[in-house]
This record gives sequence, C-alpha cells and structure tokens, in this order.
Amino acid sequence: MKTVFSGIQPTGEIHIGNYLGAIRNWVRIGDQIGQNAIFCIVDYHAITIPHAREDLARLTFDAALANMAAGLDPNKITLFAQSHVPEHMELSWIFTTQTPLGNLEGMTQFKDKSEQHSVLAGLLMYPVLQAADILLYKADTVPVGEDQVQHIELTREVARRFNARFAPIFPEPKASIDQSAARVPGLDGAGKMSKSKNNTIGVLEDQKTIWENLRVAPTDPARVRRSDPGNPDICTIFTYHKLFSDLETLQMVNTECRVAGIGCVDCKKKLMEGLMGTLEPIQERAAHLRSHPSEVTDALVSGAERCSKIAKETMLEVREAIGLLPRNSLRPA
Ligand code: AMP
Ligand code: TRP
Repeated sequence: MKTVFSGIQPTGEIHIGNYLGAIRNWVRIGDQIGQNAIFCIVDYHAITIPHAREDLARLTFDAALANMAAGLDPNKITLFAQSHVPEHMELSWIFTTQTPLGNLEGMTQFKDKSEQHSVLAGLLMYPVLQAADILLYKADTVPVGEDQVQHIELTREVARRFNARFAPIFPEPKASIDQSAARVPGLDGAGKMSKSKNNTIGVLEDQKTIWENLRVAPTDPARVRRSDPGNPDICTIFTYHKLFSDLETLQMVNTECRVAGIGCVDCKKKLMEGLMGTLEPIQERAAHLRSHPSEVTDALVSGAERCSKIAKETMLEVREAIGLLPRNSLRPA
C-alpha cells in the first residue's frame, strides 16, 4: 500500500453505510500512510444524475466537513474536491477514447441508475472518470464498499489496456474492502443503505430523528406479537447491533430475541446506545467544524494544491505516451 485513493459523492447526507463501509477504513489507512492517502469529494460524479445548482457547492463543503468529523485529519491525509483538479477531466477523456462502449453498458450501477433517471452520457462514462481519479495518482489500493468492486475491476482493465498500448505508466489498483461492513443494509430491510433510497441513518442526524426512523423499521416479520420469538439472523436491527453494540449486548440480544425475552422496541433502544456512542463524538466534531468553517476550506485548498502537483506530472507522462504535440515544445525557452 503506497498510494491510496478513494472518493465519495456529495449527493446528500453521509450515512452509516458510508461510514462503516468506507470512511472508517480511510481513517485507519491514513494513520498508516499519511498524506499518500488521498480522499476526494467527487463533485463531477455527482452531476451525472440531474442536480440542483443551488445545492452542489454546499453539499461538497458538507461532505468534506462530515468526512473530517468522522475522523479524516487533513493534517495527516489529503482531502480535496475533484473539480479543483481539472486534470481528472483530461485523463477521463483520454480513457474514454480507449474504452469499449460494451464495457460501460454492462456495469451494474449504470443499469440500476438508468432505470431511475434519464440517461445522460456522463452516467455511462461515470466509471471511466472513476478510473481517471484513481490512476491520476497511480494509486495501488482503493478502499470502498462492495458496490464499487466492478468499477475497480474496470479501472484495472483501463490501466492494463493503456499500459499495453502506449507506455507502462499505471499500476493495476486493488479494491480494499472491510468485510465486516461491505454492504450495510438500509432501514427498510430491502437492500443496501443508499442515499437515493431514503433508508439511511445519517451520521450527523440528530438522535430524535434517528429514533423516529429506527422505531418503525421492519424487524423479523415472524414477530407479530411481543410474545412471538424472533430470528436475529434475518433481522436488520441485529445486523446493526453487530456493527455498533458491545459483545455483552450482542449476546443478550441474540439469546433473548429467540425466546421473546426482549421485544423489538427494547432491542432498538439498546441499539440506540451503541449507535449514539459512535455518532456523538462525530457530531461534536461536526459542530466544532460548523463554527470553524475555515478548517474545512483550508483543508480543501491545501489538498487541491498537493493533488494538482501530482496530477500535472502524470499528465505530462500521459500526453507524451499517447503522442500529443507538447505545447511547451512550440516556443523553446
Ligand atoms: P457513495 O455515497 O455512493 O459515494 O459511496 C461512498 C463510499 O461508501 C463507497 O466506497 C461505497 O462503496 C460506500 N458505501 C455506500 N453505501 C454503502 C453501504 N450501504 N454499505 C457499505 N458501504 C457503502
Ligand atoms: N463511485 C464511487 C461511489 O459511488 C465514488 C468514487 C468516485 C470513487 N471516484 C472514486 C471511489 C475513486 C473510489 C475511487 O461510491
């Protein structure tokens, strides 16, 4: 692990799926490798589905703030906004010209999203931009949730194809997945937690709202009455317990649910304790950053400066490799 890159879209509130599946891992990696751990708020990805212009800047700032609150320390790692380093676009275009259309049309996330939205050409190119994000910094490791594995596989193909056709510039990066939270389920119990599905627990959501949503979340459907025994193995709430509660609580819930010794509401109240134990320190840091916004903007400024340097170097190599006429050769100094 020499250079690590990952990204998150500024499309709404950051949820516990993002935190457990990705950000928590980013913090750990940052502790190990410092500023070569590069994390990006991917605003150009966010506009591949129709967006509100009045929200984009705020959502980008908020995503940076939430990531810092969750533990990313910009004095240690590198944090920046994608659109502040335009070379992402340039490399993305070059990769677009080298990528067979069929590879993109087959992507699971593209197929899912194109059922929900009108299909913009950018949505099809989304994974190519992601490959550019990663390869611009020659990252070898990409910590993500399971839903991104296919995109990282495409990134490897893009790198392999470029290296074979032009020059061996890029590594073939690997996805790094925290198996304990590779796919955190949504509150509706109907699939993964996702900003677009309205089934999230927001990392910065207040306790009252979280409880209102949790209280009505479906549990084992066999538990109709309080006296019906339940099966934690098929209950979303138990999955959350495994992620947030201490061992003692976990064992108690696991035993008592099966014999109807504990009801679903009590079980959810227990979960709230562990959940808020994790979220409260994050929310306190977020409140601090809200009243000190320059800590966030300063981080984004220095992150973009650092990334620009690396990006410019890579692009010199790439332009040469594909045979473009170098601008600085036109008027020798
Ligand atoms: P996104 O919000 O789609 O930009 O995702 C940011 C990161 O969070 C990516 O690495 C995703 O794989 C990860 N992620 C998003 N939702 C989940 C989930 N429900 N479980 C685990 N990881 C997730
Ligand atoms: N597609 C990723 C997601 O939805 C976000 C992303 C963009 C990303 N560029 C990236 C993740 C580069 C890892 C590396 O979660």
